[in-house]
This record gives sequence, C-alpha cells and structure tokens, in this order.
Amino acid sequence: MSKTNLAWKSLKTLAQSELPNLTDMFENEADREQNLSYKVGGLYVDFSKQKITKEVNTALMALAKAVDVEGWRTRMFAGEKINVSEGRAVLHPTLRGSGDNAKIKKQVQDMRAKTREFAEKIRHDRHFKAVLHIGIGGSDLGTNLCSQVFAAQTHADLDLRFVVNVDGASINEAVKGIDPKTTLVIIVSKSFTTQETRMNGEAARAWLGEYASTNMVAISANNAGVKEFGVAHGFEFWDWVGGRFSLWSAVSLSLQICYGSDIFDEFLSGAFDMDQHFTNAPLNENLPVMMALTSVWNRNFIGYHSQAVIPYSTRLGKLPAYLQQLEMESNGKGVQRDGQTAKDTSPVIWGDEGTNSQHAFFQYLHQSNTGAPVDFIAVLEDAENRPAHHKALLANCFAQSEALMVGNKLASVEKDLRAQGLSESDIRKLAPQKFFSGNRPSTTILLNRLDARILGQLIALYEHKVFVQSIIWKINAFDQWGVELGKVLAGAILPELSGNAALNHDSSTNALIALARESTKP
Ligand code: F6P
Repeated sequence: MSKTNLAWKSLKTLAQSELPNLTDMFENEADREQNLSYKVGGLYVDFSKQKITKEVNTALMALAKAVDVEGWRTRMFAGEKINVSEGRAVLHPTLRGSGDNAKIKKQVQDMRAKTREFAEKIRHDRHFKAVLHIGIGGSDLGTNLCSQVFAAQTHADLDLRFVVNVDGASINEAVKGIDPKTTLVIIVSKSFTTQETRMNGEAARAWLGEYASTNMVAISANNAGVKEFGVAHGFEFWDWVGGRFSLWSAVSLSLQICYGSDIFDEFLSGAFDMDQHFTNAPLNENLPVMMALTSVWNRNFIGYHSQAVIPYSTRLGKLPAYLQQLEMESNGKGVQRDGQTAKDTSPVIWGDEGTNSQHAFFQYLHQSNTGAPVDFIAVLEDAENRPAHHKALLANCFAQSEALMVGNKLASVEKDLRAQGLSESDIRKLAPQKFFSGNRPSTTILLNRLDARILGQLIALYEHKVFVQSIIWKINAFDQWGVELGKVLAGAILPELSGNAALNHDSSTNALIALARESTKP
C-alpha cells in the first residue's frame, strides 16, 4: 500500500474509533492549548478546539509527508508549471518579493515602480477626487476587502467606489455624487473578456464623456484586449498570476492611489512574512499546513460539508466572500490533476461578520444536526477607540467558540425547568430543545492589530492553506474550468432576450426567456 493510502487508512481508523469529546481532550492534556496554538507574525492561531488528538496530529503529518507537500511547495516557488491544465506557473508569491526567479522578480519590481510613480503623481497632483474601480471576482474581492481594512489605518485621500455586478444598480450607485471630470476610472480584468466588466467599462466611458480619453486606465494580462477596448493607459500583470491571487499586483492600483503606496508595500511585506514561514517552517510547525490538515480532517474524516468563517470585525466583513472565491474556485473540483475522480474536496465556505451573524445563523451552528467547523477571527487592538464595544466584541467571539465546544448538560437543563415548576411531560418536550451537545470544533485566529501587514499575513495564510489542501486532494487549485459553461450560455441567451427567434433550450429556460422578452417589450 502507498504511504498516502496508509496515512489515509490510519486517519479513517482514528475517525471511526471513539474520539474523546473536545472537553475531555482538554482534561487529558494539560498543555493542549499550548501544543496546538501557533504565533506567526502578528497572528495567533489556536487549533486546540479542533477534534485533533496527538494520534490524529501524527497521522495528519504523515499524510502531508506522503503527498509530498514539501516537494510541491518547492515546485511552486521555483516556477514549475504546476497549473497543468493551463500549462502555467503559479508565481503570485513573487509579487510580494518571494521566490528566486530573477527575471520575473525584475518584471515585478519594474511594474511596482511604475504603479507607485503613477499613484503618487495622482496623489500629489490632487486633481482627482474619486476612483471608480471596475472589476469582478479576483479583480474586485481582494481590493475591496483591503480597502475596508486600510481605512482603519489611514484615511482614504480619494473617494474609492467599486463597480462589480452587471446589475445597472452597481454603476448607478457608484457614480452618485461624483464628478466625471475628477474621477479616475480603473478597469481591472485579467482576461479583459469578462462580460460584466466590459459592460461596466463601456457605461463608465459614456459617463465620463469628454474625459474618457484622459480619465481611464486598465489593468490586465491581455494587452491586446485593452487596446481593442480603446483604453490608452494600461498596467500589466501576467498569466502566472491567477485572478483570485492577483490582489498583490497592479490589480490593486486603486488602493495605492487612495491610501498610498507605502501602506500597500506593508501589505505585500505581510504576505512575504507568511511566504517565508510557509517555506521554512517544518511541517509540524507550519501554520498553513496545519490549517489545511485540520480542514482535511474535518472534511474527509469527520464528514463536515461546510466551513464557516466569522470575522468579529466589520472591517473584515468581506473576508468570507473573498475566501469563498479563494477556496471554492480553487478547490471546488471533482476531478484530480490526472483526470481521475476526486471525492470530497472543498467544503462550502460561508459566513458573515460577528456579532451580526450570531443573530442570524448561529442557531444552525449550535443545534443543527450537521453544524460546521468555524474559523473565528478577531482583532486584539481596538482600532476604533471604543473600548466598551471592543470588549463586547471579543467577549462574544470567545463565548461562541466556548459554547460550541462545551455545550450544556441535559440533566442540568431538566433541573432548571423542574425548579421553574414545569411538569415532567413538559420537561421531556422542552429540555431537548434547550440542550446544546457541544463538542463542535472551531479554530480561533487573533490578529494583534488590524493593519495592512497583518492582513497580508492572514490572506497569504489562507492562500497557502488552499494550496496544501489541493495537494492532499490531488487537484489543480489554479484553474477554474467550472465557470466557463455558464459564461458561454449567457453569451448565447443575451441576444435572444431582444429578438423573436425560435428558442432551442430546455422548456424551463425557454419559458424564462419568453417572460423576459415579454417584460422588456417597449
Ligand atoms: O469567472 C471567474 C473568473 O474568471 C475569476 O477566476 C476571475 O477572478 C473573475 O472571473 C474575473 O476575471 P477577469 O479578471 O478576467 O475579468
């Protein structure tokens, strides 16, 4: 049997054996919290509330060794074409100074110098008052998330607006109250073929009117596409940067313009810190590796189908959406690199900011039969200068992970109800409803501060985690063929919405198109 199969088998056996309850794990291991928590850069990550015993940990590490995480890591940083289905290298870490490919590093440095010069000129000239950032998916989510966080550290010198969806509301809202004369439109699209972005770009061009020739720039890996679209000024990135890994590139020019290039450099430095850790730390002290293994344990052995991410921070409110793309577009696949079936890959990633989500879906986390492991994320420093609020936020965060783990005791629920004078038959009905099983796993990630550098560390941590998961599942984390079919069909349906041509879809789709035709008739 191969080493991988052996490791997989021993993990299956461990999962099928009677694992102790989380609370018992703490009783049995005095130093559990220390053994399972890690400090890297400005992050403290505590895995001790995961259902990981010493034996499980050892077996997970054996799995990481067996699938050759170290070899894949070396191959990625060396620029081998590990994105096999597209024949591309995966070198986004080079954007933050990692790796040692001199030619590519030079390309990156030159581009960073160009974007810095451009951004600083705009900041210095003070002509522009607003930036309209147009992009979707990886050309939006990261920049959008960073914008909220950078604003905690420094104020935005220009009004940064995002246009994302092809719903006209997105651009209509974004241009409200800003002046075409003093607005810089930045169209961001790796492919420059994305329908939504091109349409919004056209709408922005029309809105700019006489300023369109001077107030528009494009960021893309498709220079010819930019030219054909008719934008004179462009910044390039490269095919070895995946869209969902592109926030470290010129894609985030709008951040440099609005918040300054120095803060963006700090962000890159944070990711570089995590690259260093991922490259150099032994597997059993390696944070992305540990995070990936924990997720694989939950997904493939305990059997959880989803993973919740709850940042107790309004400024990190877009993190769940960002991670949805990073994790599910990378690892939401049913086929391995060699074309064989892959089973049970990416969990569904979902979540929202705490405490809001406590009042929405936490019922499910605490008492549904399925539940989901949670990543709780909180910030130690109070950036908002509201100590009472901040303590309440942290108290809620810590309480939720404790409640999920500890639960309560049916007997004590019954005792309380008895003390309230309820009949035994009512107690039998009500007590189970007030019962919390506990033993529900979570990881807690604490950020020392909410700043650009630590955000860089956090995002790079998740990036590398996703990569390690993909190695274990034997899938290519860097392509996204699953998004193509819908795009092709949308391209076919779009003209049909306006015409009277016969429809050749399934009868449901035909009926939907007919209704839309009816509703848009003049
Ligand atoms: O449709 C998915 C996707 O291709 C993502 O991978 C990408 O981040 C997004 O669309 C936007 O693509 P582009 O940057 O090429 O416009």
